[in-house]
Amino acid sequence: MAKDTLTVTDNRTGKTYELPIADGCIRSMDLRQIKTGGDDFGLMAYDPAFLNTANCKSAITFIDGDKGILEYRGYPIEQLAEKSTYLEVAYLTMNGELPTKSQLEDFVHKVTHHTFIHENVKSFMDGFRYDSHPMSILASTVAALSGFYPDAKHVKDRATRRQQMIRLIAKMPTIAAFSFRHSQGLPYVYPDNELSYCGNFLAMIRRMTESKYKVNPVLERALDILFILHADHEQNCSTTATRVVGSSEVDPYSAVAAGITALYGPLHGGANEAVLRMLREIGSVKAVPEFIKRVRGGEGAKLMGFGHRVYKSYDPRAKVIKRTADEVFEVTGKNPLLEIALELERIALADDYFVQRKLYPNVDFYSGLIYEAMGFPVDMFPVLFAIPRTVGWVSQWEEMITDPEQKISRPRQVFTGAKKRDYVTIDRRG
Ligand code: SDX
Repeated sequence: MAKDTLTVTDNRTGKTYELPIADGCIRSMDLRQIKTGGDDFGLMAYDPAFLNTANCKSAITFIDGDKGILEYRGYPIEQLAEKSTYLEVAYLTMNGELPTKSQLEDFVHKVTHHTFIHENVKSFMDGFRYDSHPMSILASTVAALSGFYPDAKHVKDRATRRQQMIRLIAKMPTIAAFSFRHSQGLPYVYPDNELSYCGNFLAMIRRMTESKYKVNPVLERALDILFILHADHEQNCSTTATRVVGSSEVDPYSAVAAGITALYGPLHGGANEAVLRMLREIGSVKAVPEFIKRVRGGEGAKLMGFGHRVYKSYDPRAKVIKRTADEVFEVTGKNPLLEIALELERIALADDYFVQRKLYPNVDFYSGLIYEAMGFPVDMFPVLFAIPRTVGWVSQWEEMITDPEQKISRPRQVFTGAKKRDYVTIDRRG
């Protein structure tokens, strides 16, 4: 009769071990019993970059990379993008269920009334050079918030946790907008509590001398959809960074700042910025074949916005973003780089280099085209990823803090360095 176990034989000793299988996994700690002798530490699993390691159990986001499925708390991303709002998805991500009308009103009220940041934060941000990348300003400023909310370190207290989670979700757009205005040499625009989450963000970015910013509803909805699509994505690099840093029981501002810095990288959230720079570098549709040749030729050129560790089919978010782009371009005018992106996709999806490696457009391939059409500078693109991902980071952080199986993350290593040796005085070296 089939059993949920794995039987392994250690050919070094001839011993056999039966390891339980649960949730499609064996526990790495069950390998430690496999030894060759008394002083043997026991077997470990070696898995650089965690290609095949589950570091947690999570109920928040489900991805099926082969089928291109993404669900937040069981709800398909396509339905949420069509029918929900970012703050409703944020509530769902944090709480596991869609809110009732009164729950949503209460949540929106709480977020809306925590959008202000301490006035001292402004002088902190003013210390940056005008041309500092807004992601470095965002990461530093979020880390600095831990100094403004010392009670945030009581991470085991639910009420305190939830208060910081709301603060982070609410203040991220304000800090992001302030970092943009700082880079433009423009005065900061304070939050307007009469506007929606995305409307308020656009107003803090765009308002000049008018007393009330008039939000374009098409752009407001497009940004809301983009924020929904970026809310969470299970154990990606930045979420793992947030979980690992948070596992030391540091406050959530410090843990989320780690997530922001991880997201900043061009292989992760920085890819949307890299895609735009790549499209500009290609410059025209007729230059696309030459660029593809460079990518195939192993000259180190990557097709940014393509490929994914989990999706081995078309990223479902990219499909929704592509549709949203058409609606935005109706208002802003088509982004001339779109033709280059479409030609890149057309050629890549038929090219065996990409097909064999299962490289498809990911969330970052088209999003930058929308952001640029909406008037955001390229270095703001990863910031536009960080804002919505905040709810994913804080929800995954809270799940880790409340998981009885979790403790401070401290992996092992395979030591490959020098064996024990005696000190050599400097006169005897070389
Ligand atoms: C995000 O994890 C998440 O969920 C992330 C994210 C989220 O929501 O949090 O989805 C957001 O980060 C999306 C990914 C954005 N990054 C990019 O678009 C950068 C370009 N993509 C690649 O750098 C790459 O595809 C990664 C980083 C996304 C995934 O890398 P993997 O899984 O480590 O795969 P790999 O680098 O081992 O590549 C396998 C092969 C290699 O070729 P061979 O050595 O086998 O010959 O595919 C090649 C790679 O060279 N390859 C690419 C490529 N991506 C992989 N070749 C050209 N262009 C690319 N984009």
